Amino acid sequence: MNVAVIGTGYVGLVSGSCLAELGHHVTCVDTDAEKVERLKNGIMPIFEPGLEELVKRNEASGRLRFTTEYAEAVPTADVVSIAVGTPSAPDGSADLSFVYAAAEQIARHLQSYTVIADKSTVPVGTSEEVTEVIGAIYSGEFDVVSNPEILREGHAITDFMNPTRIIIGANNKRASEIMLKLYAFLDCPKLVMSPRSAELTKYAANAFLATKISYINEIAHLAEELGADVEEVASGIGADPRIGRDFLRAGLGWGGSCFPKDVRAILHTASTVQQEMPIVRAAIEMNARAKTRVVERLENALGSFQDKNISLLGLSFKNNTDDTRESAAIEIMKRMAEKGARVRAYDPEAKIQEETLFEIFERALDPYAAAQDADALVIATEWDEFRSLDLARLKTLMKGDVVMDARNLLQPEEAQKIGFRYFRIGRA
Ligand SMILES: NC(=O)c1ccc[n+]([C@@H]2O[C@H](COP(=O)([O-])OP(=O)(O)OC[C@H]3O[C@@H](n4cnc5c(N)ncnc54)[C@H](O)[C@@H]3O)[C@@H](O)[C@H]2O)c1
Repeated sequence: MNVAVIGTGYVGLVSGSCLAELGHHVTCVDTDAEKVERLKNGIMPIFEPGLEELVKRNEASGRLRFTTEYAEAVPTADVVSIAVGTPSAPDGSADLSFVYAAAEQIARHLQSYTVIADKSTVPVGTSEEVTEVIGAIYSGEFDVVSNPEILREGHAITDFMNPTRIIIGANNKRASEIMLKLYAFLDCPKLVMSPRSAELTKYAANAFLATKISYINEIAHLAEELGADVEEVASGIGADPRIGRDFLRAGLGWGGSCFPKDVRAILHTASTVQQEMPIVRAAIEMNARAKTRVVERLENALGSFQDKNISLLGLSFKNNTDDTRESAAIEIMKRMAEKGARVRAYDPEAKIQEETLFEIFERALDPYAAAQDADALVIATEWDEFRSLDLARLKTLMKGDVVMDARNLLQPEEAQKIGFRYFRIGRA
């Protein structure tokens, strides 16, 4: 099939190259000319394991192309997939301006029946709005379906190629059958439902997962006070298939490009139909506490942050991604800096978008350079390489002896044996 993918960010670039890998002819369109130019030259705009080889292989095969021109992608496409950003607006709602701009451009280039599949995370009713936007410009036949993306950054290619399910929100069989054909080579349940249900499914899933993390962090704080260990508790409850082991890792709380904005957006959607969502609100409150508690425990251990050197390991919102949008690591860095700390941070991939952040921290080239003369070391992102740090070497480089392992990566006994005052989440 011929596919146009609008937007070459984490979702568009990964889904476009995976669809090409599945044998489709894919043209990816992005308005960011510099990004497109870099892609044409084989330079990846994001860090995602396996992506570079995938893109290069499919470009070489002629099944994957990049352009800034809708005219080169839309007219021949059987399916046009929208994968542009839907950031938070100031009132918490999803800002749909990129989606509507894409819809307008698509409409101007449609020439025959096409399915427009929305992969961006959008509020309930957006398929209808996009249909109106396109219908106002293009008088031919088309259908808009909701096809929310479920990939996770850091595992995006594996997730796309081995999905647990594919959600197709379509109003008619003609459109849903084209979508089923698009994904025919992927072996998983394909759930066809109404566009409104599909749109809500995505938000309901993200809000549930965020709530699950907030729940284990709440148990973690209790465990710290009661002399229990949240890792042991998580193993105990996670062994129950009704609960499951995933998303029971206590830590700094959730962040990133999806959970915070999607949780705010579902609350906003609920408010438009006069509904309260007390569970989701509590999850947000608990998430804020998770960060506050880490900063407070560290402050207690140090006496004060004033003039203290903090070595921060991790800036990305999670491991295996360079994405720092709403990263909890960056949030605690800001709070420590506000309280007078000097922060030196190391992250293997993090891409810092906010230029002003460079005023409050210095970036180190490796964990040991970050630890030089530090009063405390904080592990804020669960990069695998932090599990095998040379703790004895770190101890000799540091001035102080405090380690705050906010992702529970180290072996407590080993850290204590070396002489660290070692703190972790969910254990006194
Ligand atoms: N990142 C994730 O892990 C993830 C997972 C599932 C769903 N989603 C959802 O997918 C959507 C995209 O997320 P992302 O992280 O890939 O975003 P992103 O910000 O990384 O990428 C968006 C891309 O769209 C381009 N763009 C913006 N307007 C355009 C237009 N009119 N025409 C063509 N290109 C345009 C931008 O230049 C950018 O390259 C969001 O709704 C997000 O919530 C993201």
